[in-house]
Amino acid sequence: MTQNEILDLLRSVRHPAKGDRDIVDLGIVHSVSEDGSTVTLAFPKRRDPLAEYLIGATRAALIRGGIKDPKVETVVLEEAAPKKKGAEFDTECLRNVRHVIGVASGKGGVGKSTVAVNLACALARLGYRVGLADADVYGPSVPLMTGTEGEQPMAEEVDGRELIVPLEKYGVKWMSIGYFADRGQALIWRGPMACNALKQMILQVKWGTLDFLLVDMPPGTGDIHISLLQEVPMEGALLVTTPQEVALSDVEKGANMFRNKSINRPIFGLVENMAWFTPEEHPDEKYFIFGRDGGARMAEELGIELLGRIPLVQSIRESGDAGEPAALGTRPDSQAFLDLAGRLAAKLG
Ligand SMILES: Nc1ncnc2c1ncn2[C@@H]1O[C@H](COP(=O)(O)OP(=O)(O)OP(=O)(O)O)[C@@H](O)[C@H]1O
Ligand SMILES: [Mg+2]
Repeated sequence: MTQNEILDLLRSVRHPAKGDRDIVDLGIVHSVSEDGSTVTLAFPKRRDPLAEYLIGATRAALIRGGIKDPKVETVVLEEAAPKKKGAEFDTECLRNVRHVIGVASGKGGVGKSTVAVNLACALARLGYRVGLADADVYGPSVPLMTGTEGEQPMAEEVDGRELIVPLEKYGVKWMSIGYFADRGQALIWRGPMACNALKQMILQVKWGTLDFLLVDMPPGTGDIHISLLQEVPMEGALLVTTPQEVALSDVEKGANMFRNKSINRPIFGLVENMAWFTPEEHPDEKYFIFGRDGGARMAEELGIELLGRIPLVQSIRESGDAGEPAALGTRPDSQAFLDLAGRLAAKLG
């Protein structure tokens, strides 16, 4: 492939916060190696809040164009500011955020995002100022669950730094890498890139003044989590689980991640999701299809307070898919999220 053909490929990579202009047009493509295997992107000294996203999108475009294992390198324009040792990001944009809370689970698919999104809405209903950062760079679900898919946050300069302005809906500020990816197009991340991209979704956002910032953590307990916890000043965590006996070891893994010596953050509570099944047409009936009081037993065993119990109700899934979180409604299941929100707020004073 010639360098010009590669440039054509790169024109498919757009900067979502800059009126969708492409990276060639914006002068971000610095050079393409003669054999086409390496593309170098140039960024200004003041970090572009979407730099990591653009690196990932560039790599994906090259792979789609048929280049096997392309390399994407970066250069910094102007002289580089002296880098602080250790942390790559600063936490300035969290200065006026009172509580940063991670919502985590040891295992995927237990309803972490559902709980995080509904808890955010419930806290807002109680009158708190709330934000939610979707830290799941591989499977961001916040845009769908909040009906904000297809919307694009803008970048804005604040005190000489470029920050992304979160979207606001249902009284909550939302941020997700999902806003910047093309629909249905999987992002191809390498470990450290994914890590930086998600840190940008938390640490380069104009959050303003908030009582609560919830961070919907990616599933699992890998390196990405540890790195996130080392750089984002989370006060503590909520763990989400389902009631089955077999889930205990996953919750334990989740708990150990926060109790790990180098992290050492408190766990504010356990949320038992799908605690029982309630049929839509019989809201007073409870069927303990995954066993009874599993959450309470786990909480006791791990020394964590059981902060909430959320039923398995069809409307919770449907409202999630429809982008109107159940916590905004008047059905009994919305009460479960309001109770959880009330207890969390009381716990943190
Ligand atoms: N209490 C509930 N009642 C009914 N459906 C639910 C409930 N909780 C979650 N779901 C549904 O289960 C599916 C998985 O939930 P969700 O995406 O919140 O899980 P997750 O733990 O964030 O998953 P991942 O690990 O992929 O991030 C979704 O379709 C969601 O609507
Ligand atoms: Mg999720």
